[in-house]
Amino acid sequence: MTTTQRLDSLRAQRAVVLGGTGSVGEHFVRGYLAAGAEVIVPSRTAEKAAMLLGDATFAGPVRAPVARVGDYTSFAGARDTADAIVAEHGEVDHVVVALGSWWSGAPLWNVDEDTFEHFFTDVTSAYIASARAWLPILPAHGSLQLVLGASGIVPVPGASIISMAQASLVMMRRVLAEEAGARRRIFSIVLGNLNLRRRGWSREDFVDADDAVRVSLGLAAGSQPSADVVLRKPDQARAAIREFTQ
Ligand SMILES: NC(=O)c1ccc[n+]([C@@H]2O[C@H](COP(=O)([O-])OP(=O)(O)OC[C@H]3O[C@@H](n4cnc5c(N)ncnc54)[C@H](OP(=O)(O)O)[C@@H]3O)[C@@H](O)[C@H]2O)c1
Repeated sequence: MTTTQRLDSLRAQRAVVLGGTGSVGEHFVRGYLAAGAEVIVPSRTAEKAAMLLGDATFAGPVRAPVARVGDYTSFAGARDTADAIVAEHGEVDHVVVALGSWWSGAPLWNVDEDTFEHFFTDVTSAYIASARAWLPILPAHGSLQLVLGASGIVPVPGASIISMAQASLVMMRRVLAEEAGARRRIFSIVLGNLNLRRRGWSREDFVDADDAVRVSLGLAAGSQPSADVVLRKPDQARAAIREFTQ
């Protein structure tokens, strides 16, 4: 089967992008929509869902995502969200998880408990809840894709709790992959600094978020087994696009 034929299979498929309202997640929303997939984006707030749906760039040939407002990050909320989406739309083939945001500002010994809870506990719990809820109901051809930051594999002074959270999620994927074996395909896409549409500027030494999406689509449409895919630099992204989409 050619790459085009493989990517064409996404036209008949359905993807959920958790964190699809965010700066990184919205690239995945656009990418899966452009590939022809139906895309559903849960959001904790009506405001963020409305902001995504109200984005004028969704007008035109590319169809808009479907938003669903409610808790999807607690264990119960993630399960209820997954059940409701499947009941309403049908089987979901791919789940992309791009949650949380950046923080830096103090060495670990000066990080207060609220900051720790917000950027470590809440974010890791949300990824865990997502994996628990979705992995058991994904089809074998589908994929669970965790979008993570390279601070999980390279220590970032001043951003300890982000580095530690991302590192724990890299390990979560590895453990899940061992536990699920060949029955599920689970990937991390570990990203360095990104060129993001919402930033309005770009740097040559940053990875284009749309290149990360191309890799994600290649993984979704392919049959590769579970893996970590590290895209810290643009040349790694180019190599991964060649590997996974050709
Ligand atoms: N920004 C970068 O340059 C960059 C680079 C490499 C990797 N990454 C990784 O990409 C992921 C997303 O980053 P981002 O820049 O897109 O962040 P963002 O703009 O803040 O968006 C993250 C989205 O996650 C959702 N979310 C759910 N639970 C959350 C929680 N407890 N805390 C914060 N957000 C939560 C929010 O959606 P709702 O409020 O609608 O539910 C939010 O829109 C992170 O894992 C990050 O490490 C980012």
